[in-house]
Amino acid sequence: MSSDWCVPSKKLLIVCLSALCLKASCLSQDECYNYIKVLVPRNDETLFACGTNAFNPTCRNYKMTTLEQDGEEVLGQARCPFESRQTNVGLFAGGDFYSATMTDFLASDAVIYRSLGESSPVLRTVKYDSKWLREPHFLHAIEYGNYVYFFFSEIAVEYTTLGKVVFSRVARVCKNDNGGSPRVLERYWTSFLKARLNCSVPGDSFFYFDVLQSLTNILQINHRPAVLGVFTTQANSITGSAVCAFYMDDVERVFSGKFKEQRTSESAWTPVPDEQVPKPRPGSCAGDGSAAAYKSSTSFPDETLTFIKSYPLMDEAVPSVNDRPCFTRTTSRFKLTQIAVDTAAGPYKNYTVLFLGSENGHILKVLASIHPNSTYSSQLLEDIDVYNPTKCSVRGEDRRILGLELDKDHHALFVAFSSCVVRVPLSRCADYGTCKK
Ligand SMILES: *[C@@H]1O[C@H](CO)[C@@H](O)[C@H](O)[C@H]1NC(C)=O
Ligand SMILES: *[C@@H]1O[C@H](CO)[C@@H](O)[C@H](O)[C@H]1NC(C)=O
Ligand SMILES: *[C@@H]1O[C@H](CO)[C@@H](O)[C@H](O)[C@H]1NC(C)=O
Repeated sequence: MSSDWCVPSKKLLIVCLSALCLKASCLSQDECYNYIKVLVPRNDETLFACGTNAFNPTCRNYKMTTLEQDGEEVLGQARCPFESRQTNVGLFAGGDFYSATMTDFLASDAVIYRSLGESSPVLRTVKYDSKWLREPHFLHAIEYGNYVYFFFSEIAVEYTTLGKVVFSRVARVCKNDNGGSPRVLERYWTSFLKARLNCSVPGDSFFYFDVLQSLTNILQINHRPAVLGVFTTQANSITGSAVCAFYMDDVERVFSGKFKEQRTSESAWTPVPDEQVPKPRPGSCAGDGSAAAYKSSTSFPDETLTFIKSYPLMDEAVPSVNDRPCFTRTTSRFKLTQIAVDTAAGPYKNYTVLFLGSENGHILKVLASIHPNSTYSSQLLEDIDVYNPTKCSVRGEDRRILGLELDKDHHALFVAFSSCVVRVPLSRCADYGTCKK
């Protein structure tokens, strides 16, 4: 990136100073830096980057080969957060940019947004509607089939008993969504559906890991497309972490199941009876399934659009593969926060190995038992402290692992910290005498 963009200029300082009265954290000058929060390929030639730019989010295109800027700057609002600590995701699919972020300085307006497409309209989630999004933390987005999926955690609207509880979600939008009619949901998603992810330990010690920390892209688990995520317990409870896998066909099944509703503001959330679900089925993509007769979502009947506006939440939670986590850790006070997976490990490439990054700079290497009839249970193979204080303590010690990237071709795992990247060999046979071990 060119350096002028990264140095807080006079104008940016003014923005930051005017923000002072609103937000005490701006007193820390660090917040005025330009944190790059989006860096994704736009196509084969172009990289798309957005930075917080001292509370004035801004995006640019760069030529992939030379890293020269390409064209004008683009407004970053709804594409990039205002602040470095806000979580966000962004990806290009079919020429459109899908982003999930906070759109304002106070982090009160969360959005799943689509923009920058040549022919498709700009769409967003309904504003300030807690049934759509409630204080979300966006973690991942994936293009798959006719849809873009978003993975996040948020305050559970359907959990009404005791204060604020976080649930993890998968949400889905159709890539061919054109928004609603001029009467209902114009310029909003007509296909936004979401469901809870169920990462729990069954049996006597029944226990939920409800806070998603990170998630893989789509992998093959037992020859079925699936994702794996690291989950932790609620912030105010005993620290525990678990890895759960979810088949994409289970996600699809839940999205075609029952919707959830709350009849009155006092009552519990219950499934919507089938006879109350209009046709075409709310959440369908135009031209597909029960909406096969419709060319565009803009011509969906009002009943379908009104329904989806009020009931984007599915009744059932997505079950995890084998109905249990494939790894849990409840004995450490440090959370697991990152995951990378090798689904073709071992001499016969038929084992699944998890690399899990923790808050305190450790990598756990785990042989995962993931087949329903597996004869072995998951095993912790190694626990390595990869934090390197001499290289990584540039701005004080920050041992939290922020990213993991597997490079199988070079037999390496790249571990990102706030001030450094560490390369770890995938197996360290020399430490064990023989590789069999
Ligand atoms: C989550 O999965 C467990 C194990 O299959 C099940 O007992 C529990 O009812 C599920 N919870 C939800 C909310 O669906
Ligand atoms: C992997 O393949 C080897 C050789 O075919 C076999 O002995 C082993 O049981 C297989 N392991 C699994 C988990 O399928
Ligand atoms: C697991 O074993 C059961 C009983 O032997 C069998 O019916 C089932 O198909 C097996 N599952 C898989 C995925 O191989």
